[in-house]
Amino acid sequence: MPVKIIIAIDGFSSCGKSTLAKSLARELGYAYIDSGAMYRVVTLVALRNNWIKNKIPDKAKIIAGLNNISISFKFVKETEKNTTFLNNENVEEQIRKLDVSNNVSPISTIKEVRKEMVKFQRQMGKEKGIVMDGRDIGTVVFPQAELKIFMTASPEIRAQRRYDEFASKGQIVEMDDVVKNIDERDYIDQNRKESPLRQAEDAIVLDNSNFTLDGQLEWALQKATETIKNL
Ligand code: DC
Repeated sequence: MPVKIIIAIDGFSSCGKSTLAKSLARELGYAYIDSGAMYRVVTLVALRNNWIKNKIPDKAKIIAGLNNISISFKFVKETEKNTTFLNNENVEEQIRKLDVSNNVSPISTIKEVRKEMVKFQRQMGKEKGIVMDGRDIGTVVFPQAELKIFMTASPEIRAQRRYDEFASKGQIVEMDDVVKNIDERDYIDQNRKESPLRQAEDAIVLDNSNFTLDGQLEWALQKATETIKNL
């Protein structure tokens, strides 16, 4: 049996972390887990219940509500996609909308929410053979991960990618709103008290501003192969 490792991919919003993580997992035959989707699900529940107003979350209600949230990921054959479920409801599309993106950072600053999500994330990585992307995977969730990649790209490129993603789904958004959302999330992600976005000391930086998708996959596969070989 080949040795299985944990690969942690952290970085700023809209750097293409999930694109790389998914393709890397596919090539290695590993599971891919999108930790951001978990914070997005909690945000969706908070929005549906009016537990967040003007981006200020009602912490007590959200924390109490965590008991009724069961998150799972399944591969849906029809769409051929890894899909996020909230209590058996397919919420994949809803959690990617701009209103969720606009409110997710304040939700992800809540200590109790993070504690619950980290518990779930660690459970999913118990068997190793996993690629997980997020903000604190290499620093908090799996500090023992054998390979840590910290991704970044220029702000203009990130905004364009996110804009194109919305457009490809037929969602009409203003570029200014996309830029504002990315700036805001970067600021909150880096400056929050609980598990802020940081590059782990032993992470390798990947600035993919000028990489093609194939190029970045090849780069990451090489790092993974080297890591496994040197264990
Ligand atoms: O990766 P994403 O953009 O879908 O993540 C959504 C938000 O969730 C992001 O703005 C910050 C938060 N997040 C986090 O705090 N910790 C993680 N491990 C993943 C995401």
